[in-house]
Amino acid sequence: MLFPEAVDDVDPAAVYADMPHNDHRPAVRLNMIVSVDGGTSWNGVSGALGGPADKALFTVLRSLADMVLVASATMRDEHYGPAVLAPEIQDARRKRGQSAVPRIAVVSRACQFDWSAPFFTAATERPIVLTVSSAPEAQRTRAAEVAEVIVAGVDDVDFDHAIAELGARGARSVLAEGGPTLNGQLAKAGLLDELCVTLAPLLASGDAKRIIAGSTLEALAPLQLCSICEDGDYLFLRYRPS
Ligand SMILES: NC(=O)c1ccc[n+]([C@@H]2O[C@H](COP(=O)([O-])OP(=O)(O)OC[C@H]3O[C@@H](n4cnc5c(N)ncnc54)[C@H](OP(=O)(O)O)[C@@H]3O)[C@@H](O)[C@H]2O)c1
Repeated sequence: MLFPEAVDDVDPAAVYADMPHNDHRPAVRLNMIVSVDGGTSWNGVSGALGGPADKALFTVLRSLADMVLVASATMRDEHYGPAVLAPEIQDARRKRGQSAVPRIAVVSRACQFDWSAPFFTAATERPIVLTVSSAPEAQRTRAAEVAEVIVAGVDDVDFDHAIAELGARGARSVLAEGGPTLNGQLAKAGLLDELCVTLAPLLASGDAKRIIAGSTLEALAPLQLCSICEDGDYLFLRYRPS
């Protein structure tokens, strides 16, 4: 750790156990990796940007969160399966009153997925499909066979509504895992309570999206730096709204 104090060999689980909190709704923590020149993907996926410490942090953040929120393009592009955590981590979660693994909520308008994918069929915690009333009824009906379907808008999922629905199902903390289009809407709605940004020592160039895309804020949103860790030239930055 380099900030707020220099400490050798910190345990990421201890650093990131400092969860964001919100009095009115589940707190939302965003986790993203980005190249030094601001790209969030390479050849359409983020995997090549990551290193061992980043992959370990991804798991640590899941181990702490009550639920995971992801948008459909990321779920498909990154080949999401169900959440998997080591047995001892599942035990620790149960002792804290959490489900053994976090439920994953996936956001979609079209509500068109491969319903036979392990993401749905092998999940030990029933996935959630967050969708809209204009999604084809047949798709919503099919979704309800393998997931809990929450309608949180007419043509667009309203994220104030969606996060409140996750809170009504017991979530106090939600880990948002992208992608940039989802993140932009969370930022615009003022729902991001913490940003965990991994700065990868790479140049990606090209037209990969930034961390936040598609939704323009009305003013610059000031952030406060919470911690900086370093491993193998990767920087692990944590910010909260100031
Ligand atoms: N670097 C990283 O840490 C990181 C993390 C995550 C993703 N990524 C990368 O980001 C890329 C994907 O991101 P993206 O921005 O293109 O897409 P995205 O945010 O992952 O997904 C967009 C999709 O989400 C659904 N959606 C978004 N807003 C919605 C709303 N308000 N209501 C209903 N549905 C909504 C729609 O799904 P439907 O089309 O199903 O209707 C939309 O097409 C991939 O290349 C991925 O590898 C990088």
